[in-house]
Amino acid sequence: MLICKTISEAKQILTTEQKNRTTIGFVPTMGALHEGHLALIRKARSDCNFVVVSIFVNPTQFNNREDFEKYPRIFESDIEKLRQSGSCDLLFMPNEEEMYPEPDTRYFELGYLEQIMEGKYRPGHFQGVVKIVTKLFDIINPHKAYFGKKDFQQLTIIKKIVRDFNYPIEIVECDIVRETNGLAMSSRNLRLSEDERNKASIIFKTLIQVKKWIDEKYSINEICQKVKTNIESVSPFQVEYVEVVDSQTLMPVNDISQHRSIHCCVAVFCNQVRLIDNIEILL
Ligand code: PAF
Repeated sequence: MLICKTISEAKQILTTEQKNRTTIGFVPTMGALHEGHLALIRKARSDCNFVVVSIFVNPTQFNNREDFEKYPRIFESDIEKLRQSGSCDLLFMPNEEEMYPEPDTRYFELGYLEQIMEGKYRPGHFQGVVKIVTKLFDIINPHKAYFGKKDFQQLTIIKKIVRDFNYPIEIVECDIVRETNGLAMSSRNLRLSEDERNKASIIFKTLIQVKKWIDEKYSINEICQKVKTNIESVSPFQVEYVEVVDSQTLMPVNDISQHRSIHCCVAVFCNQVRLIDNIEILL
């Protein structure tokens, strides 16, 4: 596995790969790698001849300084995991100066997609995500890029950006990987105590009831309320939002009969740690 920290080194390595007509797969991450990331990387390995992983804790996507500072940084163990996976050919690990030598003042028109859910509660978050992902796409020029469905809204926005800017990149969507108790894998889980991690199973246990509540003809408002009450019945969980949206447009759902697939999405605080999760319901 090659490791490089500068854009010029990465481009040099990738130019050779491109000349060899290699299929390049790319997995962008912020490190603190877990099974969810490794599943993306293994999928990239099975699809492509050359797999690039990036690790960069991107400051522009954090609207909360404390969240940025407390974001786990365990780069040595990340490198070890990547080596052991045998699935990564190039690890790109730039520093802040390399990625943002000067402030990136670009503004991306994301419209409605950044006004709801994560966009509403984390103002500027998706502008930061799109800034870094477009920079990384421009450096790596992958054929395929891999994203997890846990960040469902991020995935929808990345697909829009790829369409809007005509990036010749296939976005590969990968299923949420969960702990045995159902908790969606996330780097932020490292900030939970063992007891909190056990109790956090309430999030997924609640989400899997949504389909049943739909079948029982509860209204969307009632379902959202039930999701909130159920999750908050376990201390110290506090729900920030529950939304039921159309899986394609992310528009709020009122009349279920008008939709083929919907997502129920939640953001939940466990003390200072913010967790997100979602479930797709095919109708
Ligand atoms: O999903 C993430 O980990 C980040 O948002 C990403 C895509 C690596 C951009 O920093």
